[in-house]
Amino acid sequence: MPLTTALPSGTNMALTVATQLLLLLVWGTAVWAARPGAELLNVCMDAKHHKEKPSPEDKLHEQCSPWKKNACCSVNTSQEAHKDVSYLYRFNWDHCGPLEPVCKRHFIQDTCLYECSPNLGPWIQQVNQSWRKERILNVPLCKEDCESWWRDCRTSYTCKTNWHKGWNWTSGFNECPVKDACHPFYFYFPTPAALCNEIWSHSYKVSNYSRGSGRCIQMWFDPAQGNPNEEVARFYAEAMNGAGLHRVWPGLSGLALILFLVLT
Ligand SMILES: *[C@@H]1O[C@H](CO)[C@@H](O)[C@H](O)[C@H]1NC(C)=O
Ligand SMILES: *[C@@H]1O[C@H](CO)[C@@H](O)[C@H](O)[C@H]1NC(C)=O
Ligand SMILES: *[C@@H]1O[C@H](CO)[C@@H](O)[C@H](O)[C@H]1NC(C)=O
Ligand SMILES: *[C@@H]1O[C@H](CO)[C@@H](O)[C@H](O)[C@H]1NC(C)=O
Repeated sequence: MPLTTALPSGTNMALTVATQLLLLLVWGTAVWAARPGAELLNVCMDAKHHKEKPSPEDKLHEQCSPWKKNACCSVNTSQEAHKDVSYLYRFNWDHCGPLEPVCKRHFIQDTCLYECSPNLGPWIQQVNQSWRKERILNVPLCKEDCESWWRDCRTSYTCKTNWHKGWNWTSGFNECPVKDACHPFYFYFPTPAALCNEIWSHSYKVSNYSRGSGRCIQMWFDPAQGNPNEEVARFYAEAMNGAGLHRVWPGLSGLALILFLVLT
């Protein structure tokens, strides 16, 4: 018998194909919505010195070297991160006399995390600033990393609580405005949270979680054990994306049901 009689009639065939295409579309949308926040993982922010995408950087300098397997910073940026009044931001750490070396190393590490980490995606926000399009907000910094930063800087001097704003830049680098007097850190930062949360306009929000918990970002880590912040970013990206899926799922399953009833 002719082959064509074994196939559905033209109308039925078109309907079958349409059903399959629509179900594929619904399925595709559901899978897309269910991605574990993939767009928040392994990304670099759109800021002043970040690379477009993370990639290996074998030669990252000293304190930035933990990120060498996968980094958003170039070698040049990692070198500049260790200098005073560097070409990165012309920022003068020593605006009230030199920071003690035990203190300064935390600022270098903070700069390395900011410039190099590909794991800050869940906390990237758009901003309207002349010098960057994106910033980080409320990164959950592990409490011990914040506490040691605060403890090691207690006796160094500064003149401001928010180091993003209010400097006198007339000399080409930041100086204390005459109205803001130099005091030991503990005057402007009475607690670890005051330091970590306030200094960069809430870029960090000190976490209650501890180093190694997989629930907070570590400024310091031993790269021999891998980068612990990968897991942390995955956890928060999934948590954030999960909330999104709960919103779209009822609509999607309703649509699938309607299509099923209409087309069969
Ligand atoms: C990094 O690059 C800038 C701009 O090209 C340059 O001025 C600076 O000297 C470089 N720094 C290092 C350590 O090579
Ligand atoms: C950002 O700047 C643009 C143009 O200057 C303005 O239209 C927009 O409202 C600003 N957005 C925010 C959030 O301030
Ligand atoms: C800013 O710094 C310049 C040069 O150091 C100084 O002459 C000026 O008085 C300062 N202005 C303020 C408001 O602190
Ligand atoms: C952190 O833990 C302390 C003590 O367990 C608790 O008092 C505090 O409310 C917690 N803070 C947050 C933000 O969860």
